[in-house]
Amino acid sequence: MVESQAPRIRTKAKHDVLRITAMIQVKQERSHLPTAEHSALIDLDRALPSGAVVTDPDVCAAYARDESEAEPRLPDAVVRARSTEDVVAVMRVATRHRVPVTPRAAGTGRSGGAVPTEGGWVLAFERFDAIDEVSTRDAVAVVRPGAVLGDVHAAVEAEGLFYPPDPNSWASCTIGGNVAENAGGPRAFKYGVTRDWVLGLEVVLADGRVLNVGRRTTKGVTGYDLTALVVGSEGTLALVTRATLGLMPRPEVVRTLAVHLEDEAAMADAVSACLRARVTPRCVEVMDSITLGLLREAGVPVPAGSRAMLIVEVDGETDAADRDLERVGNALLDEGTLEVLVAKHEGDREQLWSARREMSRSLRTLAVNKLSEDVVVPRSALAALLGRCRAISERRGVRMPAYGHAGDGNLHVNFLWDTPDEKPSVDLAIRDLFEATVQLGGTLSGEHGIGALKAPYLALEQSSDLIAVQRSIKATLDPLSILNPGKIFPRAGHGGC
Ligand code: MLT
Ligand code: ZN
Repeated sequence: MVESQAPRIRTKAKHDVLRITAMIQVKQERSHLPTAEHSALIDLDRALPSGAVVTDPDVCAAYARDESEAEPRLPDAVVRARSTEDVVAVMRVATRHRVPVTPRAAGTGRSGGAVPTEGGWVLAFERFDAIDEVSTRDAVAVVRPGAVLGDVHAAVEAEGLFYPPDPNSWASCTIGGNVAENAGGPRAFKYGVTRDWVLGLEVVLADGRVLNVGRRTTKGVTGYDLTALVVGSEGTLALVTRATLGLMPRPEVVRTLAVHLEDEAAMADAVSACLRARVTPRCVEVMDSITLGLLREAGVPVPAGSRAMLIVEVDGETDAADRDLERVGNALLDEGTLEVLVAKHEGDREQLWSARREMSRSLRTLAVNKLSEDVVVPRSALAALLGRCRAISERRGVRMPAYGHAGDGNLHVNFLWDTPDEKPSVDLAIRDLFEATVQLGGTLSGEHGIGALKAPYLALEQSSDLIAVQRSIKATLDPLSILNPGKIFPRAGHGGC
């Protein structure tokens, strides 16, 4: 098989024999493919180092889906890139044969962004994972797309530095995926999202050209900001092969509060209370009454009568963090919260966070199917959004637990159902949620991206002119539409654009 670990054969003649054997095997394994796909695969295998191209259906099956409800699709091949040169080679062959290429690293996405919805090849980045540099003098890290975020955190923190973006999948998600989706996370409330920390990128275009966009310096306004454009473009404009990330000094301490509320609707006022205390917490997370039950099951102490909970954290130098904690705690008590509990030990904090981090998975245990959205509204509209969710849930008869990043107005509204006959009501409830979000001045996605799942709804938020301008940017950079096709933009007949 193409991916087999055959011993290295040094003489040219033997090498050629090995190649020919590999080609025949590609042919046999994929004999169901039409001739054009066949010859594309053979060219691909020729252009990549031995073992990089995998066609074994069992291996390909692992690349057919991500962590969303998007319909899986088996790719024709998976290419495991290890260098910029590999990525260039893949895109040159893909351009020549017009093969769709879906980039993927850890596959932790929630919107179907890494699912090869149009078939073709999956370009896997998990083995292209080096951390090239951590510079304390320049406060930057230079990393490759497959580097796991948790490893990047550890590498920079070992130098007394800090890279704030922290999507909850940080232990397994990668920088490439974070850049593609402009990932956020709880700490975004104080520190912003991935785009705020990416200074520069090396990218490969659809035709295989390599561009260096952005910079290594803190300041820099030369030319259009293509770095900002690529971040969040969901792998549809260019493939990231190196990222230069800005860093800051690591905060000395973190202090954590668990705040209990008698009423879900009180959460928006609680968020405002934190800000009125003239403190910017590093995160203000929320759990509604249903998700709070899961927290209780995970062993987190939840007082009787609590209907919603906030996790509020402050960080900085020890004295300042302690002062901020006191201010926020008092402001929240003045606001009429039920109880404010301080995490006394790292163990308390870890118990709280591990239950919060697992929330998405824990919700899966409550129903056969779960679909998670990540709508955002202006902070002042958070209570109204929750009210609308409850009304939708009742009208459509669908369970809709919610949790998320209250400080950012970013709610993960989940839809749970067991049987296929419930799905039409779920679809209506999802559309209702998006319509309510837009009416409240919000946006469809705060951090998970539009991907394949939300593409049909894009026109609910964006005008046809705006969508057309974005399509023309896509056409300039990827005229054959081979880079992650089927993502972001609705297909004809879905959403009217
Ligand atoms: C989270 O905040 O836990 C993540 O964005 C994942 C999710 O809710 O699906
Ligand atoms: Zn989230």
